[in-house]
Amino acid sequence: MVLGAAAALALGCMAASAVAQTAADAAGRAKPGAAFAGDADGAFQSPFSFGEPDGEKMYRRVCAGCHMPDGKGAKGAGFYPALAGNENVASGDYVVYVVVKGMHGMPGVGRMMTDAQVADVVNYVRTSFGNKYRDKVTAAQVSAVR
Ligand code: HEC
Repeated sequence: MVLGAAAALALGCMAASAVAQTAADAAGRAKPGAAFAGDADGAFQSPFSFGEPDGEKMYRRVCAGCHMPDGKGAKGAGFYPALAGNENVASGDYVVYVVVKGMHGMPGVGRMMTDAQVADVVNYVRTSFGNKYRDKVTAAQVSAVR
Protein backbone atom coordinates (compact mmCIF):
# COMPACT_ATOMS: atom_id res chain seq x y z
CA MET A 1 0.00 0.00 0.00
CA VAL A 2 2.97 2.26 0.68
CA LEU A 3 4.04 1.77 -2.92
CA GLY A 4 0.59 2.63 -4.21
CA ALA A 5 0.56 5.85 -2.19
CA ALA A 6 3.98 6.80 -3.50
CA ALA A 7 2.83 6.20 -7.06
CA ALA A 8 -0.28 8.29 -6.50
CA LEU A 9 1.87 11.04 -5.02
CA ALA A 10 4.25 10.91 -7.98
CA LEU A 11 1.35 11.10 -10.41
CA GLY A 12 -0.05 14.02 -8.48
CA CYS A 13 3.26 15.83 -8.74
CA MET A 14 3.47 15.23 -12.47
CA ALA A 15 0.01 16.65 -12.95
CA ALA A 16 0.88 19.67 -10.82
CA SER A 17 4.08 20.35 -12.74
CA ALA A 18 2.20 20.00 -16.04
CA VAL A 19 -0.18 22.68 -14.84
CA ALA A 20 2.74 24.86 -13.74
CA GLN A 21 4.35 24.40 -17.17
CA THR A 22 1.16 25.41 -18.95
CA ALA A 23 0.94 28.50 -16.78
CA ALA A 24 4.59 29.32 -17.56
CA ASP A 25 3.89 28.89 -21.30
CA ALA A 26 0.96 31.23 -21.07
CA ALA A 27 3.05 33.76 -19.14
CA GLY A 28 5.85 33.42 -21.71
CA ARG A 29 3.46 34.12 -24.56
CA ALA A 30 1.78 36.98 -22.78
CA LYS A 31 5.07 38.77 -22.03
CA PRO A 32 6.30 40.60 -25.15
CA GLY A 33 9.91 39.84 -25.96
CA ALA A 34 10.06 36.69 -23.84
CA ALA A 35 11.28 34.02 -26.21
CA PHE A 36 11.12 31.10 -23.83
CA ALA A 37 8.63 29.97 -21.24
CA GLY A 38 11.59 29.43 -18.90
CA ASP A 39 11.99 33.22 -18.63
CA ALA A 40 8.88 33.32 -16.48
CA ASP A 41 10.57 31.57 -13.56
CA GLY A 42 14.10 32.67 -14.32
CA ALA A 43 15.27 29.10 -15.02
CA PHE A 44 16.56 30.02 -18.46
CA GLN A 45 17.27 33.55 -19.58
CA SER A 46 17.15 33.99 -23.33
CA PRO A 47 20.00 36.25 -24.47
CA PHE A 48 17.51 38.05 -26.70
CA SER A 49 14.89 38.99 -24.14
CA PHE A 50 15.44 42.42 -22.64
CA GLY A 51 12.78 44.92 -21.71
CA GLU A 52 14.26 47.78 -23.73
CA PRO A 53 16.59 47.48 -26.70
CA ASP A 54 20.14 47.93 -25.41
CA GLY A 55 22.85 47.66 -28.04
CA GLU A 56 25.75 47.33 -25.65
CA LYS A 57 24.12 44.56 -23.62
CA MET A 58 23.15 42.75 -26.81
CA TYR A 59 26.69 43.04 -28.14
CA ARG A 60 28.13 41.60 -24.93
CA ARG A 61 25.67 38.73 -24.84
CA VAL A 62 25.47 37.80 -28.51
CA CYS A 63 28.38 39.17 -30.55
CA ALA A 64 31.29 39.38 -28.09
CA GLY A 65 31.71 35.60 -27.89
CA CYS A 66 32.94 35.62 -31.48
CA HIS A 67 34.07 39.20 -32.14
CA MET A 68 35.52 39.63 -28.61
CA PRO A 69 34.41 42.21 -26.02
CA ASP A 70 36.78 44.83 -27.49
CA GLY A 71 35.60 44.18 -31.06
CA LYS A 72 39.08 43.14 -32.14
CA GLY A 73 37.99 39.72 -33.39
CA ALA A 74 39.95 36.50 -33.01
CA LYS A 75 41.90 33.99 -35.00
CA GLY A 76 42.22 30.41 -33.89
CA ALA A 77 40.02 27.45 -34.73
CA GLY A 78 38.07 29.97 -36.81
CA PHE A 79 38.47 33.51 -38.05
CA TYR A 80 36.32 36.18 -36.45
CA PRO A 81 36.88 39.52 -38.12
CA ALA A 82 37.54 42.62 -36.04
CA LEU A 83 34.72 45.16 -35.96
CA ALA A 84 37.16 47.75 -34.61
CA GLY A 85 38.74 49.75 -37.41
CA ASN A 86 36.89 47.67 -40.01
CA GLU A 87 35.98 49.86 -42.98
CA ASN A 88 33.08 47.55 -43.91
CA VAL A 89 31.35 48.84 -40.78
CA ALA A 90 31.12 52.28 -42.44
CA SER A 91 28.02 50.99 -44.22
CA GLY A 92 25.12 50.65 -41.79
CA ASP A 93 23.14 48.75 -44.41
CA TYR A 94 25.93 46.20 -44.71
CA VAL A 95 26.13 45.55 -40.98
CA VAL A 96 22.33 45.24 -40.75
CA TYR A 97 22.41 42.76 -43.62
CA VAL A 98 25.15 40.60 -42.05
CA VAL A 99 23.45 40.56 -38.63
CA VAL A 100 20.06 39.57 -40.08
CA LYS A 101 21.15 37.20 -42.86
CA GLY A 102 24.43 35.88 -41.46
CA MET A 103 27.52 35.31 -43.54
CA HIS A 104 29.43 32.04 -44.02
CA GLY A 105 30.59 31.21 -40.48
CA MET A 106 28.35 33.80 -38.85
CA PRO A 107 24.76 32.78 -38.12
CA GLY A 108 22.00 35.31 -38.79
CA VAL A 109 21.57 36.08 -35.12
CA GLY A 110 19.36 39.07 -35.99
CA ARG A 111 16.60 36.65 -37.00
CA MET A 112 16.04 36.10 -33.29
CA MET A 113 15.91 39.81 -32.45
CA THR A 114 13.33 42.48 -33.00
CA ASP A 115 13.99 45.18 -35.63
CA ALA A 116 14.74 47.67 -32.85
CA GLN A 117 17.20 45.28 -31.18
CA VAL A 118 19.09 44.77 -34.44
CA ALA A 119 19.20 48.53 -35.11
CA ASP A 120 20.47 49.15 -31.60
CA VAL A 121 23.26 46.60 -31.66
CA VAL A 122 24.34 47.80 -35.13
CA ASN A 123 24.38 51.41 -33.92
CA TYR A 124 26.42 50.31 -30.90
CA VAL A 125 29.01 48.53 -33.07
CA ARG A 126 29.28 51.51 -35.44
CA THR A 127 29.98 53.94 -32.58
CA SER A 128 32.21 51.73 -30.40
CA PHE A 129 35.74 50.29 -30.46
CA GLY A 130 36.97 53.52 -32.04
CA ASN A 131 34.27 53.45 -34.77
CA LYS A 132 32.67 56.86 -35.19
CA TYR A 133 29.84 56.40 -37.66
CA ARG A 134 27.15 58.60 -36.17
CA ASP A 135 24.48 58.06 -38.85
CA LYS A 136 22.06 55.71 -37.14
CA VAL A 137 20.36 52.76 -38.80
CA THR A 138 16.63 52.48 -38.08
CA ALA A 139 14.27 49.64 -37.28
CA ALA A 140 12.60 50.30 -40.66
CA GLN A 141 15.92 49.63 -42.42
CA VAL A 142 16.17 46.32 -40.57
CA SER A 143 12.62 45.38 -41.48
CA ALA A 144 13.40 46.04 -45.16
CA VAL A 145 16.17 43.39 -45.31
CA ARG A 146 14.23 40.64 -43.51
C1 HEC B 1 29.12 32.49 -33.90
C2 HEC B 1 30.05 33.55 -34.03
C3 HEC B 1 29.54 34.92 -34.38
C4 HEC B 1 28.59 35.68 -33.74
C5 HEC B 1 27.75 35.30 -32.55
C6 HEC B 1 28.55 36.93 -34.44
N1 HEC B 1 29.43 36.93 -35.47
FE1 HEC B 1 29.74 38.44 -36.78
N2 HEC B 1 30.95 37.25 -37.87
C7 HEC B 1 31.37 35.99 -37.52
C8 HEC B 1 32.23 35.46 -38.56
C9 HEC B 1 32.90 34.10 -38.56
C10 HEC B 1 32.30 36.44 -39.56
C11 HEC B 1 33.07 36.37 -40.87
C12 HEC B 1 32.20 35.72 -41.93
C13 HEC B 1 32.98 35.59 -43.22
O1 HEC B 1 33.67 36.54 -43.61
O2 HEC B 1 32.89 34.56 -43.81
C14 HEC B 1 31.48 37.56 -39.09
C15 HEC B 1 31.31 38.74 -39.79
C16 HEC B 1 30.69 39.87 -39.29
C17 HEC B 1 30.65 41.15 -39.95
C18 HEC B 1 31.26 41.47 -41.31
C19 HEC B 1 32.69 41.89 -41.13
C20 HEC B 1 33.36 42.25 -42.41
O3 HEC B 1 34.58 42.50 -42.33
O4 HEC B 1 32.75 42.29 -43.46
C21 HEC B 1 29.97 42.01 -39.13
C22 HEC B 1 29.70 43.47 -39.40
C23 HEC B 1 29.57 41.25 -37.96
N3 HEC B 1 30.03 39.95 -38.10
C24 HEC B 1 28.88 41.77 -36.90
C25 HEC B 1 28.34 40.99 -35.87
C26 HEC B 1 27.45 41.49 -34.85
C27 HEC B 1 27.02 42.93 -34.71
C28 HEC B 1 27.09 40.42 -34.09
C29 HEC B 1 26.12 40.38 -32.94
C30 HEC B 1 24.80 40.87 -33.20
C31 HEC B 1 27.81 39.26 -34.60
N4 HEC B 1 28.55 39.65 -35.68
C32 HEC B 1 27.72 37.99 -34.07
C33 HEC B 1 31.03 35.32 -36.37
C34 HEC B 1 30.05 35.72 -35.48
